[in-house]
Amino acid sequence: MPQIFPKAMNPIARAVILGLPVIAGSTGVGLAAFYRSGYATGIGEIRPQPVAFSHAHHSGQLGIDCRYCHTTVEYSHFANVPPTKTCMNCHQQIWQGADMLDPVRKSYKEGTAIPWERVHNVPHYAYFNHSIHVAKGVGCVSCHGRMDQMNLTVQTQTLLMEWCLACHREPEKHLRPRTEVTSMTYTPDQKGPDGNRKRFTRDDLPNRGRLVDDKGRVTDNPLLGTERPDTQAEMGALLKEEYRVRNAVVLTNCSMCHR
Ligand code: HEC
Ligand code: HEC
Ligand code: HEC
Ligand code: HEC
Ligand code: HEC
Repeated sequence: MPQIFPKAMNPIARAVILGLPVIAGSTGVGLAAFYRSGYATGIGEIRPQPVAFSHAHHSGQLGIDCRYCHTTVEYSHFANVPPTKTCMNCHQQIWQGADMLDPVRKSYKEGTAIPWERVHNVPHYAYFNHSIHVAKGVGCVSCHGRMDQMNLTVQTQTLLMEWCLACHREPEKHLRPRTEVTSMTYTPDQKGPDGNRKRFTRDDLPNRGRLVDDKGRVTDNPLLGTERPDTQAEMGALLKEEYRVRNAVVLTNCSMCHR
C-alpha cells in the first residue's frame, strides 16, 4: 500500500476527519465548524486580479462558451486559463484603448503570461480530473456556480472531501446530457427553441450514438432522436447507465482520489 498523505497530514485535521475527540467537547466542535467555514475553505473570497476580467460580461452578456477560453477542460485533467492571444482575438479591435486592458496589451507585446491569481485549489495529495467529469455529464455550474453572473471569480463550493463524496455517492442527481455541460441555466424540463421537449442528439450519446454488436454490426442507439426525460430522477438514471457511471462503492474508494 503506497503512503497516502504523510507530509501534508496534520494530526488535528486528521482527528477532525476521523471524528476523534482529541480536544475535548466544544473545542472540537468549534474546530470542525472552522474547518468547514468560508474562511478556511475560501468560499466567496475575492482575490485581487491583474485585470478586472468579468465572466458576467464575457459569458453572461456576450454568451461566449466556457470552452472558447478553457480549451483543455474536455480532454485534460486541468482546465487552462486562456493565453493572452485568446483575449487579443477580440481586444485587438474592441476596447483597444482602454486603460483597464493595459496589462493585457503589455503581456501580448512582451510575450509574458498575465499573472492570474488562482482561485480554486485542491491539495496536491488529492487527485482531481476535469475531463472525466465533463465527459460524464457533470455541468460546470454544479462545481463552480453561476459563473455567468460573477464579476470577479469566487469559489462557491467547499471543495472538501465530504463535498466530493456526496456527489460520488449519488451522481445521478447531477448528470445532464453532455451537450448541456457548459450551460448555466439547464434544467431537465427546459424546452428547445421550437417550444417542444429537447431530443437526444449524437453529441449527447457515447460513441456518437452508434452501437456495435458482437458481430461488429453498427446500429444507431435507440435513444437517438427521442425526447429527453423531463425529470432529474429519470434523466439521471438513464444517463448513469448510458455513460457507464460506476457505483458508489467504486466511486468512494479512497484510491480513486488518493493515488
Ligand atoms: C473570454 C474568456 C473566458 C470565458 C468565455 C470563460 N472564462 Fe473562465 N476564466 C477566464 C480567465 C481569464 C480566468 C482567470 C481570471 C479569473 O479567475 O477570473 C478564468 C477563471 C475561471 C475559473 C477560476 C480558475 C481558478 O483560478 O481557480 C473558473 C472556475 C472558470 N473560469 C470557469 C468558467 C466557466 C464555467 C465558464 C463558462 C460559463 C468560463 N469560465 C468562461 C476566461 C474565461
Ligand atoms: C469574443 C470576444 C472577446 C474575448 C475573447 C475577450 N473579450 Fe473582453 N470584452 C469583449 C467585449 C465585447 C467587451 C465589452 C463588454 C461591454 O462593454 O459590455 C469586453 C470587455 C472587457 C473588459 C472591460 C471590462 C468589462 O468587462 O466590460 C476587460 C477588462 C476585458 N474585456 C478583458 C478580457 C480578457 C482579459 C480577455 C481574455 C481572457 C478577454 N477580455 C477576452 C469581448 C471579448
Ligand atoms: C466535479 C466538479 C467540477 C466540474 C464539473 C468542473 N470543475 Fe472546474 N474545478 C473543479 C475543482 C475541484 C478545481 C480545482 C482543481 C485543482 O485545484 O487542482 C477546478 C478548477 C478549475 C479551473 C482552474 C484551473 C484548474 O484546472 O485547476 C478552471 C479554469 C475550471 N475549473 C473551469 C471549469 C469549466 C469551464 C468547467 C465546465 C466545462 C468545469 N471547470 C467543471 C471542479 C469542477
Ligand atoms: C457533482 C458531482 C461530482 C462532484 C462534486 C465530484 N465528482 Fe468526481 N466524479 C463524478 C462523476 C459522475 C464521475 C464519473 C464516474 C464514472 O465514470 O464512473 C467522477 C469521477 C471522478 C474520478 C475518477 C477519475 C478516473 O480517472 O477514473 C475522480 C478521481 C474524481 N471524480 C475526483 C473527484 C474529486 C477529488 C472531487 C472533489 C474535489 C470530485 N470528484 C467531485 C462526479 C462528481
Ligand atoms: C472523491 C474523491 C475522494 C475520495 C474517494 C476520498 N477522498 Fe480523502 N480527500 C479528498 C479531497 C479533495 C481532500 C482534500 C480536501 C479536504 O481536506 O477535505 C481529501 C483529504 C483527505 C484527508 C486529509 C484531511 C486533511 O485536511 O488533512 C484524509 C485523511 C482523507 N482524505 C482520507 C480519505 C480516506 C480514508 C478515504 C477512503 C475512505 C478517502 N479519503 C476517499 C478526496 C477524496
